[in-house]
Amino acid sequence: MRPSQAIRPLLSALNAAGKYSFKPPSFSVDNLIVGGGVVGLAIARKLVIQRPNDTTILVERHSTAGQETSSRNSEVVHAGIYYPSRTLKSILCIRGRRLLYDYCHKNHIPYQKIGKLIVALPNQVAEIKALHDHASSLHLPESQEPAVPIQLLTGDEARAMEPALSPDIAAALWSPETGIVDSHALMESFERDIGETSLSYSTKVVRIDRINEPRGKPGWVVQFVATDTSSGGEPQAVYTRSLINAAGLGAPFLTNEILPEHQWIPSYFARGSYVTCHGGRKLGVKRLLYPMPVKGMAGLGTHLTMDLAGNIKFGPDVEWITLGTKGEQGDNEPWKTWLTPSEERLNDMHTAIQTYLPGVSPSDLVPDYVGIRPKLAGPDGGFRDFVIRLDTADKDRGEGKMVSLLGIESPGLTSSLAIADMVVSNVLH
Ligand SMILES: Cc1cc2nc3c(=O)[nH]c(=O)nc-3n(C[C@H](O)[C@H](O)[C@H](O)COP(=O)(O)OP(=O)(O)OC[C@H]3O[C@@H](n4cnc5c(N)ncnc54)[C@H](O)[C@@H]3O)c2cc1C
Ligand SMILES: *[C@@H]1O[C@H](CO)[C@@H](O)[C@H](O)[C@H]1NC(C)=O
Repeated sequence: MRPSQAIRPLLSALNAAGKYSFKPPSFSVDNLIVGGGVVGLAIARKLVIQRPNDTTILVERHSTAGQETSSRNSEVVHAGIYYPSRTLKSILCIRGRRLLYDYCHKNHIPYQKIGKLIVALPNQVAEIKALHDHASSLHLPESQEPAVPIQLLTGDEARAMEPALSPDIAAALWSPETGIVDSHALMESFERDIGETSLSYSTKVVRIDRINEPRGKPGWVVQFVATDTSSGGEPQAVYTRSLINAAGLGAPFLTNEILPEHQWIPSYFARGSYVTCHGGRKLGVKRLLYPMPVKGMAGLGTHLTMDLAGNIKFGPDVEWITLGTKGEQGDNEPWKTWLTPSEERLNDMHTAIQTYLPGVSPSDLVPDYVGIRPKLAGPDGGFRDFVIRLDTADKDRGEGKMVSLLGIESPGLTSSLAIADMVVSNVLH
């Protein structure tokens, strides 16, 4: 990892360079969602179901849903072990996990509650006991019931479950509620629930204006261009009463569109690489295996995860990247070149894996894919919660809401249905 002082935020707004000028809207809708990742889709689904008389449209710049962070993650349904109590990450992960298992069960989405072991080296035993106490104490605000089942094991008990574990492992936590899910099947199911007429792909938002006229309806004019025409089609504009910004890595750029520059929200990016473990089945591992998280690290540690076919992969590691400090997002996603996996990460990843699974050799590991965490603070920033930000076009009347989902890193996939409930039932109302 590079020294932290070298990590600078990217400060940008969609139309910072002024390429697009205001256009009057040519049509109007009730709810516009920007971003067809798992979070935007879950919110659109909830709006379509809960407000059938509203016009709801979701726009996504790529030609299909979920091409960014939502398809570049571990596909783990998290139990909610680590997050500080009463935070959005904690509450929405626990609620979201229950809603997600229930949804997958009812809609025949492939998932498996395979459980996970968090394993500790001798010098981490005090820490893993503290993590056990923390997880055991968690409950939702609406209930006194323990919400995160967890069991403390000795090293031998853990090895009895997973014989491939290192003899150095001195203690472990068993989380029976952790699982894996087919995130693509999940998003396809959300798309079916939403319905084709509400989904507009290959549509990129390029400018946002606040509308607040004394006699008019407060709201937002959102300008967009088609990304599937080589000629670069004319921009169009739509008026929306409610605007939901679920643009993932690009979400701060959308919110910054409506803020004075001194209030711009900074974006930080932490890259996470995955490797496939060739011949991983010979390890005979049946559950997810996580090392103890290292304090101050941006992730949960390079862990073993598997897909529903039983293929084993390791990741994600943490590599902070700087994408210039200022500028227009323009056409490009500035992080795009960082999505190519590289051999460079293999050695460090192997070193991390070796501490708990000595049977994995460097030659078993092949670079697979990369995901980028949308961070709101840099390496020294400590714990940051999900942010669900509300701006209103007309503050006095409280009308014309814009909801921004910021810093939706892990456990955003697990939390998606709970985030949607909160946004639609609590924030938009
Ligand atoms: C390495 C890694 C591992 C993870 N592992 C897990 C895990 O195991 N379990 C878990 O629960 N969570 C995990 N997460 C978190 C999870 O993947 C994310 O929280 C979730 O996918 C975020 O979804 P989203 O819809 O907010 O964002 P995205 O999936 O990024 O979707 C945002 C969409 O907005 C679109 N967009 C952006 N700007 C514009 C614009 N101007 N116009 C139109 N469209 C636009 C983008 O094209 C994109 O499709 C992980 C994340 C990372 C990075
Ligand atoms: C939708 O509109 C119909 C017809 O006007 C009305 O009967 C119904 O109550 C409305 N539904 C909701 C959820 O507002």
